Amino acid sequence: MTTSATTLLAWCRERLDEGGDAPSLAWLLDVGAGLERSVYHSLALHPQATVELSRGLDELTRLWHRHLKHEPLQYLLGRCPWRDFMLTVAPGVLIPRPETELLADVAISLMDEAPADPGLWADLGTGSGCLALALALAFPECHGVAVDQDPAALTVAARNLKSVAARVHLLAGNWWRPLRPWWGRLTMVVSNPPYVPTSTLAQLDPVVRCHEPRPALDGGPDGLQSFRAVLAGVSALAPGGWLVVEHGQGQAPALETLFATAGLRAIQRYQDLEGNDRFLGACAPHHWP
Ligand SMILES: C[S@@+](CC[C@H](N)C(=O)[O-])C[C@H]1O[C@@H](n2cnc3c(N)ncnc32)[C@H](O)[C@@H]1O
Repeated sequence: MTTSATTLLAWCRERLDEGGDAPSLAWLLDVGAGLERSVYHSLALHPQATVELSRGLDELTRLWHRHLKHEPLQYLLGRCPWRDFMLTVAPGVLIPRPETELLADVAISLMDEAPADPGLWADLGTGSGCLALALALAFPECHGVAVDQDPAALTVAARNLKSVAARVHLLAGNWWRPLRPWWGRLTMVVSNPPYVPTSTLAQLDPVVRCHEPRPALDGGPDGLQSFRAVLAGVSALAPGGWLVVEHGQGQAPALETLFATAGLRAIQRYQDLEGNDRFLGACAPHHWP
């Protein structure tokens, strides 16, 4: 539909008077109606302009009202921009987070140091398949394996990985278990496992707590339960192969100890854009003791 800048600005003011925040509204207009943020931000300067929206204002109002009741906009629209991709998302599957883009960056930079060429990578707990897609596109010469125990995640991941399906095996199962055929050959393994301590789940924002899947969030009593399970399988790595994980704030020291105890070497912390330790990378020894 075509609408004037004046009408749209008045609509935006009405919506924000009802609640919510301006960045979320700009996100809805961008991802939900095709109005680029730069155009949106220039509307006040060009009130005579007209804009083209792919959804009508009535429908956008209905979506906004559901968002005000804490439904994630990404689930409402079924889409989520992440890195250069527009991913499919669906209720029951974790919405990919912006900070996880950095996990992909770390893995891609370390992949250059990985031992075998072409390498074989894996994504443990693939969820929407976001990390698997990033690795598959960054390394077109490599094959990869994306694992999740949740059938809903595998359905969404299959959609997101369609363009690279010939090079990515999508497997159901518990962490490393489906990877038996590739044991000892994995040159890069990424994982963003559940890491929220069970006792703090109740403090999460309702938009997360009430709508995102608990098995994707709940890291057990100390938040480190899934890391222990992942570290129990590091002998699946090729000699010199990398494991890179995302973790919660404040978990780096305990995780470093777990990584060292598992026999990993060259343990390195990586930070998010705010300077918080949020990722840990380490490589397998050339000979396990
Ligand atoms: C925090 S989400 C991460 C999803 C995705 N990789 C991302 O970064 O957005 C954790 C994922 O691990 C999966 N998961 C939890 N326990 C698992 C297990 N034992 N084996 C395999 N996957 C598991 C969940 O289903 C969920 O999709």
